[in-house]
Amino acid sequence: MSFVPKSLGEVIRQRRSTPSFDGREMAAEDIRTILEAGLAAPSGYNVQPWRFIVVQSTEQKKRLRTACFNQAKAEEASVVIACCGDADSWRRDADDIIRMGLDGGMSEGYAAQLKDYVESYLHSLNTDQMHGWLNKQVTYAATQMLLTAESMGYDTAAMEGFEEDKVREVLRLPLSYWVVSLLAIGFQKGPDKYFGGRFGISHTCFAEEFGKPFK
Ligand SMILES: Cc1cc2nc3c(=O)[nH]c(=O)nc-3n(C[C@H](O)[C@H](O)[C@H](O)COP(=O)(O)O)c2cc1C
Repeated sequence: MSFVPKSLGEVIRQRRSTPSFDGREMAAEDIRTILEAGLAAPSGYNVQPWRFIVVQSTEQKKRLRTACFNQAKAEEASVVIACCGDADSWRRDADDIIRMGLDGGMSEGYAAQLKDYVESYLHSLNTDQMHGWLNKQVTYAATQMLLTAESMGYDTAAMEGFEEDKVREVLRLPLSYWVVSLLAIGFQKGPDKYFGGRFGISHTCFAEEFGKPFK
């Protein structure tokens, strides 16, 4: 990394969604740092159902572009991280999650209950509810990666403009995977995007209950 690192506050104030990238390669260790930031995110019951497909090759980025309604940034970015959720991850990972928890100080009592608890919750979800659950979990991880990349001096663009079935085909994803978003990272080409503005606290936030202004 040859940038001056930015503080979280600077990133939050200055970040814009990057309209166009110049395609330069990123350092491999920086990509790992960004991925590690995603893996550190919180998740319900610590299930960590996110799975990330890291796309760097010219051919795969070209294919992704066609799956993204021809959005050029999917091809121009140095790396596109497909942020996916795996509806079946719990089934495979339950024992490891409990083991890691016990190693870190989880109580034996909680560990004994956790499997039944999570299994019955996740089995009660229909497909749409499972996608909603995965969207929540994966978005925390994607946000940590986006902010980390920006703090390292990279430019980023979150993308939801894609055809899920086409992305799935390009990336050869298993059936249990659900594509939540794509995160394009690289070096900005040309001018930054305009600032679209933000609603303020009085528009958006309430105190204690709906309708009471937060002051
Ligand atoms: C989940 C998500 C998906 C988005 N998908 C796209 C996209 O497919 N294409 C695009 O040009 N911008 C996309 N954006 C960027 C938004 O348009 C942008 O965040 C918004 O206009 C505010 O601008 P700013 O990020 O520059 O502050 C996406 C943003 C988010 C958070």
